[in-house]
Amino acid sequence: MKIIKAKDYEEMSNIAARIISAQILMKPDCVLGLATGSSPIGVYKRLIEEYKENALDFKKVKTVNLDEYEGLSGDNVQSYRYFMNTNLFDHVNIDKKNTMVPNGISSVELECGSYEERIEKLGGIDLQLLGIGRNGHIGFNEPDEYFAARTHVVNLTESTIEANARLFESKDEVPKRALTMGIGTIMKAKKIVLIASGEDKAKAVKDAVCGPVTPHCPASALQLHRDVVIVADAEALKLMP
Ligand code: F6R
Repeated sequence: MKIIKAKDYEEMSNIAARIISAQILMKPDCVLGLATGSSPIGVYKRLIEEYKENALDFKKVKTVNLDEYEGLSGDNVQSYRYFMNTNLFDHVNIDKKNTMVPNGISSVELECGSYEERIEKLGGIDLQLLGIGRNGHIGFNEPDEYFAARTHVVNLTESTIEANARLFESKDEVPKRALTMGIGTIMKAKKIVLIASGEDKAKAVKDAVCGPVTPHCPASALQLHRDVVIVADAEALKLMP
């Protein structure tokens, strides 16, 4: 694992965006695995700026998102499809037909199987961008007794529902289930970039990097991947030895 220390959120975002632009420049038809949440917003802003400066072309890029809430359609403002459209896709020259987010209103079990197959058909993920939950989750892979191999439906933990409630009118409105790539799906990506900002991520980052590899901290599986870069700010790295 390589760790890049950034001074703050902005620097973290700029560094991660540069890694993603390098990927697009090297392979213009690459498959990017993308995340939602507060962590990648700055990365997407920077990528949009680079596109507007004519430094980046998304014409042939394909994307696959990590996860989606069950029961939310793409035009629901809380859905991850909506998030991706408004925070990135609507502002660059990507063909929306080349962007995949799990469908939260389909028959979700079937959708999980087909999502996995569609990723394989694309030839796998070249670069996967990840955030990390305060409990060490990646995607919606919550701490558990085992690592889930494939895209699946999960029950969200109380801590994740609470963390995500800030984006809803009330905690009761946060969906209780979600579709997510499995740890196995994520681990098949050729390169992984995990971003983390803020003190509330410090324990999760330390457990993921220095703790045992255990499904109780899903991000710890990344220790077994051969090409992971963690870009984190000083606050998120403050518990690192
Ligand atoms: C989002 C996702 C989640 C988030 C994590 C951190 O697609 O997969 O694992 O990356 O919950 O969320 P933020 O960035 O909001 O702190």
